[in-house]
Amino acid sequence: MLAVLPNVAGLARGQPTGGAVNQFVGDLVCMGCHGELSAEFRENPHHDPSAPDQPAGRAGCESCHGMGALHAISADTSKIGGFTASPPSEAIDRCLVCHGGDFGKMHIRRSAHTTSDVGCVSCHSIHAAHPEGQLLAGLEREVCYRCHANIRARFEMPFKHRVNEGAIACSDCHNPHGAPLATWASAHSPRMVSHGMGNDQPCLGCHADVAGPFVFEHPPLRVEGCAACHDPHGSTNPRLLARPAVFVMCLECHNEVDGFGPRSEGIIGPTPGFHNLSDPSFRECVLCHSRIHGSNADPLFRR
Ligand code: HEC
Ligand code: HEC
Ligand code: HEC
Ligand code: HEC
Ligand code: HEC
Ligand code: HEC
Ligand code: HEC
Ligand code: HEC
Ligand code: HEC
Ligand code: HEC
Repeated sequence: MLAVLPNVAGLARGQPTGGAVNQFVGDLVCMGCHGELSAEFRENPHHDPSAPDQPAGRAGCESCHGMGALHAISADTSKIGGFTASPPSEAIDRCLVCHGGDFGKMHIRRSAHTTSDVGCVSCHSIHAAHPEGQLLAGLEREVCYRCHANIRARFEMPFKHRVNEGAIACSDCHNPHGAPLATWASAHSPRMVSHGMGNDQPCLGCHADVAGPFVFEHPPLRVEGCAACHDPHGSTNPRLLARPAVFVMCLECHNEVDGFGPRSEGIIGPTPGFHNLSDPSFRECVLCHSRIHGSNADPLFRR
């Protein structure tokens, strides 16, 4: 390696770098001092064996760290683009030189993460990645919990998606790189919820039985989204329901209060003559309206 160094920017190692022009030097030079790290890098998806044929700076160490000549002769850390001291936005710009075209990162610039200064290296680690996952700094959920500690408790509830057990992952429902506006819930709270098949809620990919289309649809599934009735993370109520008593949830909408519902005339309540709500058995709405997500046979979702 030492034989390579004197050619770097025409300077010898240890010389002052003042006035010298920076340039790309190639991975072999870096390897001379960062041997172990460079050896490990062979396993990295960023290691491209054809790199020597690439124009300098398009592959290898300097594609992320920038020109290395001045650093290589001085070993001065201020002369190399490290990521530890620089603001997240700078890292984002570097990474997006190559990843800006990834389909799943279309919305990264205006995602809640980017606008809150959460950058690529807040979640990813290039040189010390967790063996599971895509160059993540830790197990996926643990990376998320570093900042979203309150969400962990939701997945410890009696009824929950088994994220903490490893059965499903945050990224089954979220795209941490940002998502397009939701096609459900009037695009109200996109929450970086990723789009599943047909641009619909990601839930439908796993819960195909509630996906429809149904001849008789229950409008809130699309209008408010699944989260109108379910807590997607976890709940103290069976079926991840948002309320302990099902009828309370139904009556929050089915109460004929004006200014709400498809025609702003209120949503039709359970017919009073028939439904005797003081009789507890009538409060078990889904005993009769059992196809609550929609039906192909009955407009009242009873079969
Ligand atoms: C002459 C030896 C030498 C060469 C050649 C060299 N480095 Fe370094 N580099 C060092 C030393 C010493 C440090 C400081 C200690 C450490 O972090 O390992 C360092 C630190 C770094 C850092 C951390 C900077 C920071 O902000 O903490 C990066 C990134 C880096 N080198 C990249 C490179 C790259 C890329 C190359 C090839 C272009 C390269 N180095 C070539 C000696 C060298
Ligand atoms: C895909 C982008 C990328 C490439 C390619 C890359 N690095 Fe890094 N490097 C980073 C990031 C990001 C950090 C900041 C710490 C971290 O997240 O792991 C870093 C940190 C470092 C550090 C300081 C921290 C440490 O772990 O010692 C050194 C030294 C370093 N890189 C050297 C290299 C060398 C040598 C190569 C080529 C073999 C290389 N890097 C290739 C992104 C990259
Ligand atoms: C010079 C182009 C280039 C730069 C710059 C670059 N990458 Fe990559 N990255 C690639 C290529 C090529 C792959 C491997 C092919 C693929 O999966 O698309 C890759 C793969 C990845 C993967 C997927 C790893 C896997 O296991 O599938 C992650 C995560 C990633 N890069 C993160 C980053 C981050 C973070 C940065 C900035 C610190 C960065 N990249 C900078 C070219 C680049
Ligand atoms: C909030 C955490 C987080 C941030 C910030 C983040 N990522 Fe990721 N990234 C993930 C997770 C989790 C995965 C794996 C799950 C998945 O595929 O979505 C991933 C997967 C990837 C992949 C491989 C799969 C794919 O989507 O192509 C690449 C490449 C990648 N990230 C690059 C980047 C780059 C570049 C940035 C910054 C511009 C970045 N990531 C910012 C968490 C993050
Ligand atoms: C470095 C800290 C950090 C990490 C790591 C992190 N986040 Fe975030 N996340 C934030 C911040 C800051 C916000 C924006 C403020 C808020 O809504 O709390 C946010 C917002 C969100 C939102 C709400 C988006 C919205 O539109 O309101 C979701 C969903 C989310 N993060 C998911 C994840 C997932 C999944 C991971 C792991 C792959 C993750 N985050 C990792 C800091 C982080
Ligand atoms: C089963 C799908 C699913 C999984 C798995 C999931 N989420 Fe969510 N998450 C959602 C949905 C849907 C919303 C939006 C709820 C709404 O619109 O009120 C949301 C909202 C959020 C929010 C913003 C609102 C809030 O409650 O603070 C954050 C932050 C968040 N999720 C983080 C995470 C993290 C971190 C993980 C993994 C540990 C995770 N989510 C796993 C579906 C999921
Ligand atoms: C990656 C697949 C996957 C995705 C995406 C997913 N789920 Fe689930 N869901 C499951 C599995 C598996 C179970 C079974 C419970 C368990 O794991 O213990 C479950 C259980 C449930 C239950 C409880 C069922 C019961 O019989 O008690 C409800 C309600 C539910 N999910 C709603 C949702 C909603 C709403 C979304 C979207 C925000 C969603 N799911 C996204 C896989 C998924
Ligand atoms: C109007 C309220 C409401 C909406 C909106 C809603 N659900 Fe449900 N869901 C329920 C009720 C009530 C139950 C409990 C049914 C029972 O106990 O028989 C349930 C049960 C479930 C179950 C358990 C298995 C089953 O079919 O009984 C799953 C899975 C489920 N819902 C997924 C979803 C998904 C995915 C969405 C969004 C596409 C969604 N739900 C939207 C009210 C709703
Ligand atoms: C987020 C609001 C919302 C919730 C919660 C909700 N619904 Fe609905 N439901 C609607 C709307 C809107 C309609 C369509 C009414 C219309 O077309 O006038 C509807 C239609 C119905 C219909 C068909 C009525 C008809 O005449 O066509 C039945 C039956 C029904 N819901 C039962 C229930 C039950 C049982 C629950 C509780 C598990 C429930 N709904 C929860 C909003 C809701
Ligand atoms: C014992 C079975 C049963 C139970 C329990 C039940 N319903 Fe019904 N529901 C029916 C039948 C049968 C009809 C049609 C009655 C009619 O046409 O008068 C109906 C009609 C409805 C309608 C449509 C009203 C209309 O005029 O179109 C709504 C809305 C409704 N129920 C909501 C509920 C809610 C909310 C609950 C729980 C508080 C509930 N139901 C409990 C059997 C039941």
